[in-house]
Order: sequence, then structure tokens, then C-alpha cells
Amino acid sequence: MLKPFNLFYFLLSLILISCSPSLQTPSDIIDMKADSVLGLMTLEEKVGQLTLFTSDMDQTGAFIRKEYEQDIRDGRVGAIFNAYGADYTRYLQELAISHSRLKIPLLFGYDVIHGHRTIFPVPIAEASSWDLEAIERSARIAAIEATAEGLHWTFAPMADISIDPRWGRVVEGAGEDPWLASQITAARVRGFQGDDLTAVNTMAATIKHFAAYGDSQAGRDYHSVDMSERRLRETFLPPYKAAIDAGVKTVMTSFNDLNGIPATANHFLMTQILRDEWGFDGFVVTDYTAIMELLHHGVAADTAEAAKIALQAGVDMDMQSGFYQKALPDLVKKGLVSEQMINKAVKRILKIKFELGLFDDPFRYSNPQREKNEVMREEFIEAARDMARKSIVLLKNDGQLLPLSKEVKRIALIGPLADGRRELIGSWSAAGDWTKAVTLYEGLKAQLPHTKILVEKGCDINSSDRSSFAQAIKSALQADVIILALGESYWMSGEAASRSDIKLPGVQEELAKAIHSTGKPVITVIMSGRPLTLNWLANNTNALIQAWFLGTSSGNAITDVLTGNYNPSGKLPMTFPKSVGQIPIHYNMKNTGRPFDPDNKYTSKYLDISNEPLYAFGYGLSYTTFEYNDLKLSQNKMGANDTIQAYITITNTGAYAGEEVVQLYIHDPVASVTRAVKELKDFRKITLIPGESSTIYFDISRDKLSFYDADMRWGAEKGDFIVMIGGSSDNTLSASFELSESIWDQK
Ligand code: NOJ
Repeated sequence: MLKPFNLFYFLLSLILISCSPSLQTPSDIIDMKADSVLGLMTLEEKVGQLTLFTSDMDQTGAFIRKEYEQDIRDGRVGAIFNAYGADYTRYLQELAISHSRLKIPLLFGYDVIHGHRTIFPVPIAEASSWDLEAIERSARIAAIEATAEGLHWTFAPMADISIDPRWGRVVEGAGEDPWLASQITAARVRGFQGDDLTAVNTMAATIKHFAAYGDSQAGRDYHSVDMSERRLRETFLPPYKAAIDAGVKTVMTSFNDLNGIPATANHFLMTQILRDEWGFDGFVVTDYTAIMELLHHGVAADTAEAAKIALQAGVDMDMQSGFYQKALPDLVKKGLVSEQMINKAVKRILKIKFELGLFDDPFRYSNPQREKNEVMREEFIEAARDMARKSIVLLKNDGQLLPLSKEVKRIALIGPLADGRRELIGSWSAAGDWTKAVTLYEGLKAQLPHTKILVEKGCDINSSDRSSFAQAIKSALQADVIILALGESYWMSGEAASRSDIKLPGVQEELAKAIHSTGKPVITVIMSGRPLTLNWLANNTNALIQAWFLGTSSGNAITDVLTGNYNPSGKLPMTFPKSVGQIPIHYNMKNTGRPFDPDNKYTSKYLDISNEPLYAFGYGLSYTTFEYNDLKLSQNKMGANDTIQAYITITNTGAYAGEEVVQLYIHDPVASVTRAVKELKDFRKITLIPGESSTIYFDISRDKLSFYDADMRWGAEKGDFIVMIGGSSDNTLSASFELSESIWDQK
């Protein structure tokens, strides 16, 4: 039934549509509706739509506004974040609808990053699956749960390329590679937004943090970024662009300054690239208090100047500073900011509210019945378990110690993460309830009811207390095999969680050494939000598993892998360094004029450590083995508009059925600017049973060869190219072909 509120907007739409019969597309109609609402608004109400405040359910910064309810009643705020729950969002929405003059519905945003109630693996873990369908499903389920709790808008996915594992936020992204991260980011956008934003179980996504936040100096959060435009465009921008192409509705600015201009005041990023080059027509929101932080960056002297330069750069919505609210009306009245510019920003926000259907029914997402039915459904928990086991990376498996033999009678499960629950859902776990997560101990008990499991903590994650070592050793001595569960705390990665060292915290490595001295076979499971330096374990433990933080179904998923109920297929989306001194380290580095040669001092290297990583990008083992043979190209000469094929045969040479991520890399050995030693350009996930072979192919066309030349023209340059295919960036077969002519796009 139409309430007076929607009756008003409904009649308005009817009048508009009947006045303009030639306007047909839904987007034309929304455009017109937004204009018509805009025409009714006072300047203060317009600025209200540009204002986003946090509720007091939780917070991510020190700034919290107590009077937000009055702001809602007065139409001085258009969106609220950190408020969820059908009843609570309904209550807040009611304030806007019953009290504000124009009854414009509020937009509810939240950090739904890797699940809402059912918590999926942290994003870097999901990226290790290289499974785009599963990643899309994970975001889809998150959106179903979140929208059932009144949310319309998520601050995800994070598309920042991460090359420095000291930076805590590597946990939120898809790793170091621009191509892989682009595919994953687009999959996440599709998952959150679905094909129809008006559906009640889809939500607007946000691409963040625009731009290049992942290159913060020395891995320190919020730090400066300075890079060439070529590096920005080739390495850092592609995942954001992929999100725009996938139709993402909103973009969040980053905290960092880029080449001297803070992102939130950066016209080049927010207008030139985003709007003029990429045609983005959603809205731009700042990160938390980022307009206020322009004062600390030292590019604005006061509130008014900060608000003015942010708006003029192209920022539509102010998250939490309140600077737009305080300063914009006055700036317009003094003629320092044009109302036209404000109108544009307001319209972008109104359009998304229309697209979400909020003007038809502002309460449509706040539905207690859906909340009851759609949260933590059995099938969601099962999907989270499937995603979790796909995210696990097997790093070492000497003597085929894994999967666990059926003969194992006694397992000693040792370490602070053996039965630790709090850490499992990782950071940014939204409304997830860590008490519902399944521990490794519980997972093992459930799948191995006849095996005796001796569980010992051994030590805390981050303390110097060794007093429980003796008891842990005692249990280890009684076992046939030991599972060591080590890692980080959930709060050691995420925002404001950079580490200067990335080894196992506390005395965990000492515990590992003590346990290894028993001489028993040891399987080590690492739970962490970032790559760690694991040299000693890599050399000494018999089997090593990178399990990241896997969410609600952690223990079940890890057990699936340990027992062989699931054959691991994950591959690292980020290089694991041997030492923090190697950072930044990533597979797609340059050759330099003096390529690494261990026998020649005057080459690009260190005195005390080799250049190689501990584990390379794309690396990950299976319980079976795959052999790559017969890399063949369909042609060894390619015209600029040709597409050639690279064929490869993969054989499962082991004893288990398994999945393999077949990776295609390309290198341009001679070009007018220096090129990376290899760049991922495609991949395929295949399943093979023992003895089975499969020949697959990749298409190679000019887009896979292109780069920015010295004049920043995008194109492919004639000459030889090397094609590499394999199961890891450091283990490939190669072949070469020649591109017969150069071709450059118009600038
Ligand atoms: C700050 C974080 O940088 C950002 O990623 C997040 O979305 C906002 N806070 C809102 O919580």
C-alpha cells in the first residue's frame, strides 16, 4: 500500500513520465526523477545529501557524532554507516521519513568485506583460490545477508594492489598482480550488485581506496605514495578500472597523498581519470574523516578550504568530517563554490537512492522476516566452507605426509591457534560473530572421531611466556604426528595494523623448534592476514599450509584439506619474502641493467640474502602432481590485429584427482621502455583425474602485449615476445613469437 511518503514521489514520477513520453530508458527516467527532487531542495538539504555520518554501533576512528539523530530529522544528513539490523535501520529511516521536510530516504552503508554474518575467508585468502565464481558467490551471499539487515551499500571491494606485506591492509585485497586483482575485483562487484540493483538482495558496492593506497611508503598505513604515472596506470589503476567497467556504483578516496596531492583533493584522480577518462557516473565518497585530514596533510588551512578543494576535486560525499555540512552553504553564499557543482554531486547520490528503490519504499531492506530467514543459512555456511578450503595454499609436503594417513591414531595439535576461536574470522569481519566460528580442534574431532587428539596451546600468539612448552612437548612425544597451528592475531592485519617485521609473533617459532626437536613428523598450519617470513619452518617442517583467516567454517575447511577430503589447489596471490629486507618484492619486477647473478658481486642483489622469494607468486602445491608439456603457439608471427593461440598439455601424474591453476605470463624482452620480467595475462583452473591429460589454449591478442610508451601512449610495440605457461610464476615453459608491427591507441 502506498504511504503518504511514497505517494508523493510516486505522483511526481507519474507527472514527469507523462510530460516526457520520449524518455524511455530506466536511466533517463531516474535522471529525471533525481532532477525533479533536486529542484525541490534547499541548499542546506542538498549539502545534507552530501553528508555521511556514523551511527554509534561501532566505529573505525576517533570521531563520533552524538547528534546524528537530529541531523536526520533536519535533513542535514543523507547517509548513515555502521548501522545495521532490520529494526535499527527501520528506526533511523523512520526519523528521516517522518521528520525531514522532503522525506528523502537515508542510505545505509557498512563495511561488508568478507561476509556479513556468515564470515567467509579474508579477501587475500579468497584471492588464493583463483576461483572467480566462488569469489562472486561469496560476495553475493554477503549481500543477501547484509541487505536482509537493512543495508544498501557496502564499502567493498578493496582494489588496492598490495606489494608490501608489512602493510596490514594486504589482508583486504587481492594481492600484488594487476591482472588477477582486476578479475577478482570485478567478480566481487558483480557479487554484491548482482544484475539488478533494484532487487532487494543486492547492494551498491564501493571500490576503494582510490588510488594507490597499497604503495604507502615502508608499508606504514596512511603514508605517502609517490610514483610515476606509468607505474600508476600499469600496475595500480587496473583493478579500480575493472570495477568501473563492472558497473560499481561508488568509489572511496584513499587516505594517502599521491605525488603530493592527497587523494581526497586530487582532481587528476577523481575527475580527470575517474569521470573524464573512465566515464564513471556513480558517486565518490571520502574515507573516514579524509576531508578533515586535508588539514593535517597541509593542503588546506581551515574547514572551508578543505571542503572547497575536496568538492572541486570531484568528491561527492563527506564521510564523517562534517566539513561539507559546516562549510559548503556559506561557500556557496559567498560565491566561492558554485551551487551547480553541489547539484551535480547531489544528483549522483539521489540517482543511486532511486536505483536501489528507496524512493519507492525506504523500508524495503529493513525486513525482520528476511533478517530471520536469510542470515547464516545452512547453505551459506557450506558455501563459506567451500570457499575456505579453496583458499588454502599447500606450501610444502615432504614425503607426502599429507593427507593424513588413515592409520594415524594420535595427533598432537599444538599452538595458540589449535583451538583458538577469536582470530578465525580475521579483521573487518563486519557483523560476524567469532563465537560461531569452528576451531581447528573442533574440525579435526568432527572428521576424525576415532583418533585421539591431544590439544595444547604451547604459548600465546604474542607473548614471551614459554611456561607451557614442556607440556606441549610431552603431548608431542605421545603422538604419531604433530599439527602445529601458528600465526597472527586477527588485529595484526587490517587498517592501522602495519608491522615492521613480519615473522611469527611472540615465541611461536621457538615453540616450533622445541616441538621439532622431538623428531616427530610435523605439519604446520599458518593462520595470518599477510605473508609472513617463514624460512625456518619452510626448511624444517615436513608440511606447511598457508590457511590465512578462513572465517566461520575455518576448522572444518582446514580439516578437509588435512584429511584429503579436499585436495588443495590454492596459489599465492602475493610473494612470500625470505626477509623484510627484500620488501617490496613481487614477481613482476624489472630485469635492471645488472640482472641478478649469484656469482657476480656487481649485479642487482643483496650481500646477505639472495633475491629469490621464499615462495613465488602463483605458487601452491596439490596432493597430486601436474606435468606441463608441449607449449606450442599457433603462429610465430603475429599481425597487430591477429589473435594467436598458445597451447599447453597438462597431465595429472600423481595419485589424486586435483585442480590446477594454469597460468599464462608474457614478457617483452626489448621495448622502448623497460618491461617487467613477466606479467600474468590469463589463467585457467582445470580438474584432472590421475593419469588424465588435457590440452588447453590461451588466446593472445594485442591487449596482452600493450604498455605505456615514453609518451604515455598505450599500445603494443613490434618485436619478439616470450610466452610462459606453468603452475607458478617461477616454474614455466616458454616459447616466443614476433609481433610484426607496432600499434598505438590514440591518446
Ligand atoms: C576507514 C577505512 O579505511 C575504510 O576502508 C572503511 O571503509 C571506512 N573506515 C569505514 O569504516
